[in-house]
Amino acid sequence: MKEKIAVASDHAGYDLKQELIKFLEIEGYKVDDFGTNDKSSCDYPDFAFKASKSVAEKLNDFGILICGTGIGMSIVANKVKGIRAANCCSVDMAKLSREHNDANILTLGARLLNLEEAKSIVVAFLNSKFEGDRHLRRINKINELTGL
Ligand code: RB5
Repeated sequence: MKEKIAVASDHAGYDLKQELIKFLEIEGYKVDDFGTNDKSSCDYPDFAFKASKSVAEKLNDFGILICGTGIGMSIVANKVKGIRAANCCSVDMAKLSREHNDANILTLGARLLNLEEAKSIVVAFLNSKFEGDRHLRRINKINELTGL
């Protein structure tokens, strides 16, 4: 059974979100779309927060959040307890964000990536596994130090 993926974007990420939803569904993932639902100007925190909460509450396994740069989405997501969001602009970053940081949300910058780059980053993120061991100790420290 493939993972359930929460997706969200603002207006800047809307087109890429729609393309990635099609791609994920073809790949067999179940997609939970938290909006936005068109390209009219909107505020990324509204969509990032709802999708991130669904991952924190284990209603979805992972999240993919898209705005112009991915930065706003990552700032919001990382304020939700239990979320480790990584803003990735390369396949290597996406792979390492899973292997070392156990990232549960990927954020993407639609103004910085073309569709093929974004798909490659998504595939690397979803197919990489957390390595645990010393990396788990560091994640436990994040939780202890921040309470998040
Ligand atoms: C919207 O113009 C833009 O600021 C937003 O998509 C995002 O890049 C913020 O981090």
